[in-house]
Amino acid sequence: MHVQSEAPPPVTNETTTKPATPFDRLGGHATMEAICNRFYDLMDSDPAYAELRAMHAADLAPMRKGLPLFLAGWAGGPRDWFEANPGRCMMSLHAPFTINRAVAGQWAEAMQRAIADVSPEPPELARGLSKALSDLALSMGRD
Ligand code: HEM
Repeated sequence: MHVQSEAPPPVTNETTTKPATPFDRLGGHATMEAICNRFYDLMDSDPAYAELRAMHAADLAPMRKGLPLFLAGWAGGPRDWFEANPGRCMMSLHAPFTINRAVAGQWAEAMQRAIADVSPEPPELARGLSKALSDLALSMGRD
């Protein structure tokens, strides 16, 4: 007997929406701003980060604006910072500074604390962000 089966639906990967980026999933600009504000508050107030603080300008307001916009683009979100700073990269930004391992460790620790304090969701992505940023900072330390 011949059984007529329905044709299976076409297999397609087409989708009308783009997959959410880490930036989107972590809460967008509000999360990046909260993390960076906490990071600079810690840097500004905890003597453990005095050496790192001393490398920065007296006025941290420009960094409070710049770092969250940098992180937004870095995490797959809007690339405004990169468009406003053509050709700027981690190397060129930090070339004027001598970053030893101690100060790289201060950056990494303050960022880990800032992310833990803000504790964005989902937690596994927040842990990934914390590890990626602290590994990046630690890789910049040279003695
Ligand atoms: C490893 C330890 C690090 C040290 C000691 C350090 C230090 C600095 C200093 C002193 C400045 C200039 C600040 C000012 O003018 O007040 C700066 C700028 C900047 N840093 Fe770092 N940094 C470190 C790691 C990082 C990491 C891991 C990132 C990114 C994930 C980063 C992103 C930036 C950006 C985007 C700017 C420029 C922001 C802007 O002008 O818009 N830094 N950094």
